[in-house]
Amino acid sequence: MTQTVHAITDMNPSLFSLKEEVLTGLRQNQKQLHPKLFYDENGSRLFNQITTLPEYYLTRAEKEILTTFHADICAFIGHNTPLIELGCGSEEKIQLILESLKEGNRYIPIDISQEALQCTVEKLLDAYPLLDVNAIRADYTQALSFLCQGTEEKKVVLFLGSTIGNFDENDRNEFLQQLAQNLNPDDGLIIGIDLKKSPTLLEAAYNDSAGITAAFNKNLLDRINRELNANFQVENFAHHAFFNNEKSRIEMHLVSKTAQEVSIDEEIFSFDRGETIHTENSYKFDLEDFQQTLNKAGLGFQKAWSDQHNHFALTYIEPLKG
Ligand code: AVI
Repeated sequence: MTQTVHAITDMNPSLFSLKEEVLTGLRQNQKQLHPKLFYDENGSRLFNQITTLPEYYLTRAEKEILTTFHADICAFIGHNTPLIELGCGSEEKIQLILESLKEGNRYIPIDISQEALQCTVEKLLDAYPLLDVNAIRADYTQALSFLCQGTEEKKVVLFLGSTIGNFDENDRNEFLQQLAQNLNPDDGLIIGIDLKKSPTLLEAAYNDSAGITAAFNKNLLDRINRELNANFQVENFAHHAFFNNEKSRIEMHLVSKTAQEVSIDEEIFSFDRGETIHTENSYKFDLEDFQQTLNKAGLGFQKAWSDQHNHFALTYIEPLKG
């Protein structure tokens, strides 16, 4: 048998302007930088390292769930069901699913990064030469509405890794509503969420002893220096991550160690000593609240699997009927 054709369909996603994002964020009273800015080549490499750290339980727990419950998860997915993955940094996880489904299912990763798609497709085809892979370079909304036009065939959308935890409430609700609009009644959606747990464990996961999360956070400033005409003294900023109990989220900040000024192109930004740039929120959920959030979007989970420590959950979601 010959291999299926594995073209990457390029839907020319509109890419954000780094300069606009950075200037707008730093002009706010609470200076902020959007977490999507973390993922340049260096940031993506550091994030991959984070997923292997002893303190960062999320990836291990999600893989444990995929391994322990793969038969049940695959029964929900069904044979010959196209699997659409939003973001594709996780070929190891998708392999845990494909291991049971084998070659019957079509795999459609969606990402805005050509390199990430190329890398995932190549690794998967090494492991499963007969797999039917159709990668799409697009943003999620663009690709979902394209894929869902006029097809009644059951499909399952995967959104793993608790990436949904990096969305603020409004963006999360809007995103779930968009998903709901693009799902037929029998379609499925598998979302990974990080669960609420002891602040000590949570804070350790974002303050690892090897300092990789700190380097990931500070890489943002290096990136801005590299790509914009900026002069951040990176050693003058400290990584700070803590659990905000009221909002149920880990917050990451970069704290200015001294009063200082930084220029980006023509614009000067002043920092007081102790002032922070807010770089990320990572929300932690409990299952009941998550079910309510889903319900508001017209969705509901049918089943939730969690790891032995109850740290992380995978949820199988369908549109609400009736
Ligand atoms: C990608 N995302 C789910 C990670 C998280 O845990 O929120 C990003 C991350 N930030 C620091 N460490 C990992």
